[in-house]
Amino acid sequence: MLPPVRTPHSPSDRAAYYQLRYEVLRQPWQQPPGSEHAEDDALPDTFHALVTAPDGTALGVGRVHTAAPGQAQVRFMAVHPSAQGQGVGRAVLEYLEAEARRRGLTECVLHAREQAVPFYQRLGYEVVAPSHTLFGSIPHFLMRKRL
Ligand SMILES: CC(C)(COP(=O)(O)OP(=O)(O)OC[C@H]1O[C@@H](n2cnc3c(N)ncnc32)[C@H](O)[C@@H]1OP(=O)(O)O)[C@@H](O)C(=O)NCCC(=O)NCCS
Repeated sequence: MLPPVRTPHSPSDRAAYYQLRYEVLRQPWQQPPGSEHAEDDALPDTFHALVTAPDGTALGVGRVHTAAPGQAQVRFMAVHPSAQGQGVGRAVLEYLEAEARRRGLTECVLHAREQAVPFYQRLGYEVVAPSHTLFGSIPHFLMRKRL
């Protein structure tokens, strides 16, 4: 059974959360420590999700915020390589979507890395258009789902 998805609260939760973001989304592209933080992470509107292993290390993370009237945006989805393909990403995304619905938002958008597009399609998202290229090498696609 998967460990539950929850909101990180303690300092050790937050350390595990950012460690996984760094390891999966920044370190492989030689980005400096600290680059895994976003300016709006600490705003009250930004809602974070974390799944941890029994030893406290992060298995999955993600966040959602209100991007526009009626619209949620998911960012920084990451699952530890050892835990990928076991439903952790689905659990994190569904937890974030539940928060968006709780807020009364009616659609969710995200900018997906090319290799993650099939995952989001499986979860009901459709490609709207190509978007930016990150670190000069990772094409992204704007995707959208009605909530
Ligand atoms: C993309 C990512 C978040 C998906 O998380 P995950 O835990 O591996 O995915 P899950 O096991 O929850 O998969 C959910 C469903 O999507 C499917 N899926 C996942 N990745 C897929 C892929 N690359 N191609 C096709 N289907 C895929 C699974 O088969 C599963 O389908 P099922 O419910 O029918 O079994 C994770 O692999 C990851 O962190 N990748 C590296 C970082 C990244 O790209 N992050 C996204 C940035 S936009």
